[in-house]
Amino acid sequence: MKNNDFSDIMLNRHSVRQFDPSVKISRDELQEMIKEATTAPSACNLQSWHFVIIDTPAAKDKLKQAAMKFNYPQIDTSSALIFIAGDTHSHEVYRDVWNKVYEAGKISKEKLDQILNTFLPLYEKASPEFLTLDATIDGAMVGMQLLLTARAHGYEANPWSGFDFKTVISAIGLDPKRFVPVMCVALGKPAAGADILKTDRYDTKTQTEILE
Ligand SMILES: Cc1cc2nc3c(=O)[nH]c(=O)nc-3n(C[C@H](O)[C@H](O)[C@H](O)COP(=O)(O)O)c2cc1C
Repeated sequence: MKNNDFSDIMLNRHSVRQFDPSVKISRDELQEMIKEATTAPSACNLQSWHFVIIDTPAAKDKLKQAAMKFNYPQIDTSSALIFIAGDTHSHEVYRDVWNKVYEAGKISKEKLDQILNTFLPLYEKASPEFLTLDATIDGAMVGMQLLLTARAHGYEANPWSGFDFKTVISAIGLDPKRFVPVMCVALGKPAAGADILKTDRYDTKTQTEILE
């Protein structure tokens, strides 16, 4: 990582939408950033996320079929985009995740059985709405981590979901019966003179209640 200054990474993050198109990010580095981002927590550790790397003109054209036009500048100029989808079938491999932890001697057989017996039935019987919501939250968690990881690697990013939620999954070659759209993250170095909107936030006291 190029930048390990947490406050700089978090407090100075702003969405960048105009990138220097001559900057390339290798697929190895993209994969590294994805790996780092997946240290994010997820519901029951289901890790219900899935990534699509979009870094060629042909792939960008496919994404554009489902993107709102105001997001074309990020698509056209970014070094790469990482589309984050939620995986509503993630529980189907859930046993493997925990078996690995058990086989590595990190949890007891009792703990393994307890985890699988508690959480698996919940997901196997869950409604599509529940699975979609769960996968969407997981995807958002990993998306936020990806934004920060990008800065740690010396890049800037823009999360965006201005796309057609009904068609975007098919447009990027995923199975719409399994995957749900969460967000797309455009990555790169800002273009010289890029107009970076410095946004503000509400007074959080107006958004906070205290339950007594
Ligand atoms: C769920 C989500 C969807 C967003 N969709 C878009 C979008 O379609 N286009 C865009 O330019 N920015 C999009 N953004 C970026 C927001 O506009 C931006 O994060 C917000 O204005 C705050 O600015 P900042 O990122 O610079 O702090 C989205 C952000 C989030 C979290």
